Amino acid sequence: MAKLDCKLCSGTGWTVSEQDGISSAERCSCVAESQAEQMEKLAQIPENYQRASFENFHLPDDNPTARRGLSDVMLAVSGFTRIYPKNPKPGLLLVGPPGTGKTHLAVAALRLLLARGHEGVFFDYQNLLERIRSSYNEKLGTSTREAYRSALETEILLLDDLGAHRVTDWVEDTVTSIVNFRYNHRKPLIATTNLVDPDIGGTGPEKSQVPGAHSFRTTLEERVGERARSRLFEMCRVIRMPSVNDYRIKPQRADR
Ligand SMILES: Nc1ncnc2c1ncn2[C@@H]1O[C@H](COP(=O)(O)OP(=O)(O)OP(=O)(O)O)[C@@H](O)[C@H]1O
Ligand SMILES: [Mg+2]
Ligand SMILES: [Zn+2]
Repeated sequence: MAKLDCKLCSGTGWTVSEQDGISSAERCSCVAESQAEQMEKLAQIPENYQRASFENFHLPDDNPTARRGLSDVMLAVSGFTRIYPKNPKPGLLLVGPPGTGKTHLAVAALRLLLARGHEGVFFDYQNLLERIRSSYNEKLGTSTREAYRSALETEILLLDDLGAHRVTDWVEDTVTSIVNFRYNHRKPLIATTNLVDPDIGGTGPEKSQVPGAHSFRTTLEERVGERARSRLFEMCRVIRMPSVNDYRIKPQRADR
């Protein structure tokens, strides 16, 4: 749909150009723009992240190791969007401690894909489960049931804060059914989590120093179950956030 107030096409969606006495009509750029805006609206990105992009992702300049680590991660995530949808693995799993920029980067990737006309939806994991659960409990309208359908069917699912919920069989079954459906159909999934996993490792003091003792940080498997974890690893490129300060509690910087 064209923008009604577009100065280039006056809302017709077409621009006419003339060359050698022959005029030809072309689709106006506002058509793609308004489609992208529409896609953003449908994606339900929370307000805090609506402007998250790779351009406004800051690389620390006081710590070369952190800068390199964060820059590698950013390149990996933007690389995912560059080759999309021809990625060897259809998903991305961003793993790391709070405040390291996982959700920011996941949204930046989603927004780039939306701007290219792809469809996607942002879901906060906990909120998605609550909406699905309440649609079972009560005779509610279609809006809550739609959450489940949309998590299954949307082209790109951004599942934020995966595993941030106490574990019940119901939660495990529900997550497994969503991941399994998307896995079976090779549907892209971009997920973030700050849970740890023995096969990813290095995201903090997750292991006790005492041999044989259990880890004191909850693992991905404990929260989502073995089956969902296994599928996540197969369908997602796993990206571990480097060791950086929590951006939320950094000292105030002049440019913020
Ligand atoms: N490198 C960065 N440059 C610019 N903004 C950043 C950067 N890292 C984080 N932020 C901002 O800091 C806030 C926290 O980042 P974000 O929500 O992405 O962290 P997270 O890793 O998802 O944390 P959590 O595990 O708690 O969900 C957001 O507002 C985000 O936009
Ligand atoms: Mg987050
Ligand atoms: Zn126009």
